[in-house]
Amino acid sequence: MSGPGSKAPGKSPVNGPANQALWQRADAVIPNGGMYFTRSARFAGNDVMPGFIQSAKGCRITDVDNKTYLDFNCGNGPNLLGYRHPEVEAAAAEQAGKMDLATFFPEQMPAYAERLLQWGSEFDWSVFTKNGSDSTNLAMRIMRAKRQQPYIVLFDAAYHGFGVELALADESRFDSNQAYVIRIPWNDTQALQAVAEKYGEQLAGLVINPLDQSPARPVSEISKAMASAIARFKSKTGAYIAVDDVRHGFRLHPKGSHQQMGVEPDLICLGKALANGYSTSVVLGKQELRSAAEQINFTATYMFSSVAFCAGIATLDIYERDNVFPHLWAMGTKLVEGITQAAAATGHQDLVMSGPPTMPTLLFSQDVKAKRARTFAANASRLGAIFHPLLNWFVCYAHQEADIDEAISIAAQALQDTPTSL
Ligand SMILES: Cc1ncc(COP(=O)(O)O)c(C=O)c1O
Repeated sequence: MSGPGSKAPGKSPVNGPANQALWQRADAVIPNGGMYFTRSARFAGNDVMPGFIQSAKGCRITDVDNKTYLDFNCGNGPNLLGYRHPEVEAAAAEQAGKMDLATFFPEQMPAYAERLLQWGSEFDWSVFTKNGSDSTNLAMRIMRAKRQQPYIVLFDAAYHGFGVELALADESRFDSNQAYVIRIPWNDTQALQAVAEKYGEQLAGLVINPLDQSPARPVSEISKAMASAIARFKSKTGAYIAVDDVRHGFRLHPKGSHQQMGVEPDLICLGKALANGYSTSVVLGKQELRSAAEQINFTATYMFSSVAFCAGIATLDIYERDNVFPHLWAMGTKLVEGITQAAAATGHQDLVMSGPPTMPTLLFSQDVKAKRARTFAANASRLGAIFHPLLNWFVCYAHQEADIDEAISIAAQALQDTPTSL
């Protein structure tokens, strides 16, 4: 889910004078004006997205030109409760008044680990990291340390973060970076069996995302046959299973996406929505892998943010106390149904909405280069809503019925303004 985006020379990707002024400054001093495809406004084309945000509250973001948008990107996932949820902010602010990072561990660290293991009661220990990428890299290291074997199985086009081993095939520059990574097609039970036969005891583990979700492709769930094949793969080879729940965590199942997938992981990687926007991530693991985790020399300066730990505890408490998940599901379902009806009414018969309603993905089946999806997103942005044209959207707890009604009417107009062939 990274990539260069489309850069038309001399054109600014952002909309509005203050956004454009910041873009010029950013482009002079930061490669690609900010480098990051998912953050960069370029994902929808030139001159359409806001680009620079000055404030955010609930499900709305306000850009530097003072235009407010109804947001279905939620900071690329983290803001599951909505921006600046008062209780999370209060917990974080109280701790920020005392300290964030200091020499030695913050006093909240054991409480946060205990809280996470109460949430994921099938796991026995937790190791904190900072980004989702840190946690997937750590999971791979732990599986290798335990097995003393090198090979890791991943799925084609599955994004797991920024590590060199994890770069997707078209980004890989040096074969040696990925010498011990084997990629197989999604839901291909025979390919998994073939890997088990070929590499056998040299396998350390397998890392799997809850869904197959690549830019501009319909989302696909794991098949029952694949879930069973993974269980057989584990018992045949002894390799471990890690679920990368960084993106989908708390949005596919309130107790971890593996519950929905029918896969029993030895490790689970969580990030994004863990602390409603505060930067922390984690690997939770089973007892059998604890000794391997203890062998690894793993640390990072900003891993022990007590502000993020306090935000994380408050976030988990709210998820459970307020039964957040059914609301996300209901709002997402209403959004998907409304947009599907609007597409039929505006002649976009090839609209495909795929994935769970908590994180739906829009595409048009006849739109192979995603030109119409980009045009739709650009039109919606002009009308005041952010819908990603290539990747999944994120629904949050702050989206209420009235917000979804507004989103549907913006989407209907944006569809009306989008040609049915491009
Ligand atoms: C499935 C998945 N795994 C891992 C990551 C990496 O997380 P981060 O960007 O926090 O390093 C992402 C990020 O989008 C992701 O979608």
